Amino acid sequence: MLSIALLGLLVVSAAASPSAIKDRTGRVVHKRTTEIVQLYAYGTNISGLPIYAGSDNLAYLATDDAASNFTAVTWTIDTTGTDAWTVSANTTAATNSSTLSSGSTFYVVTDSSSDDSFAQAGFVSDASDAPSGATTTGIVTYGPYVMILEDTDDKDTYVSEFWATQSDTDGVWTLMWNEAGTAQDNSVPVTLKTTAPVV
Ligand SMILES: *[C@@H]1O[C@H](CO)[C@@H](O)[C@H](O)[C@H]1NC(C)=O
Ligand SMILES: *[C@@H]1O[C@H](CO)[C@@H](O)[C@H](O)[C@H]1NC(C)=O
Ligand SMILES: *[C@@H]1O[C@H](CO)[C@@H](O)[C@H](O)[C@H]1NC(C)=O
Ligand SMILES: *[C@@H]1O[C@H](CO)[C@@H](O)[C@H](O)[C@H]1NC(C)=O
Repeated sequence: MLSIALLGLLVVSAAASPSAIKDRTGRVVHKRTTEIVQLYAYGTNISGLPIYAGSDNLAYLATDDAASNFTAVTWTIDTTGTDAWTVSANTTAATNSSTLSSGSTFYVVTDSSSDDSFAQAGFVSDASDAPSGATTTGIVTYGPYVMILEDTDDKDTYVSEFWATQSDTDGVWTLMWNEAGTAQDNSVPVTLKTTAPVV
C-alpha cells in the first residue's frame, strides 16, 4: 500500500528546471505562456484517457465507449500557473454537451488545512464559485506533465497528486486530487500530460 501511496506523490525541485530565472530578490520569474492543448491521464489501466466535464461540471476520465455522456474539452492553459486554466467544449468531438459554459475555470481542491483532503476536480464559470479549499492558479506544466507549483519554505516545488477513482460505470473514473497522497479505495495515482497516447 505504501508504494502505491508514494507513486501518487511526484515532487520535483525547481532547481532542476532550466527555465528558472531569478529576479533580484531571488524569486523565480516565469514567463507567461498560453497554449491550447488537450490533457490526458496516465496510470494503471488508464492509458492516456482524455479529461471530460460531466453534466455536474466535475472532471472525469472516460474511455471512448463510455464518453458519450460527457463533454470533451479543449484547454487554454498558462504553463506558468499565473492565470487560471480554462476550458471550452470541443464541439467537434462526438459527445454530449453539458451545462459547461465556455471559458470555465479548472479547479483542484488542495486545502492544506485538511490534510486528508481527497476531492474531485471540476470546472466553475467563475473562479470565485470554486469550492472551499480549491485553487485555480499555480497549475503549471513541467515538460509535458501537469503539476501544481507550491511555495514551500521559500522554495518552489512541483507536486502532482492527481488520482483517479473508478466509478460505478465501466470505463469512467472521477479525477481527484489526493492532498495527503494516502491510499484510497478503488483509486490509482495518475499523471496528467499534454501529450496524447501513442496509438
Ligand atoms: C487493472 O485491470 C486488470 C484487468 O482488468 C484488473 O485485474 C486490475 O485489478 C486492474 N487494476 C487496477 C489498479 O484497477
Ligand atoms: C449515459 O447516461 C444514461 C442516463 O444516466 C445511462 O443510462 C447510460 O448508460 C449512460 N451511457 C454511458 C455510455 O455511460
Ligand atoms: C445525450 O444526452 C441526452 C439527454 O441527457 C440523452 O438522451 C442522449 O442519449 C445522450 N446522447 C448520447 C450520444 O449519449
Ligand atoms: C476536438 O475533438 C476532436 C475529436 O476528438 C479532436 O480530433 C480534436 O483534436 C479536438 N480539438 C481540439 C482543439 O482539442
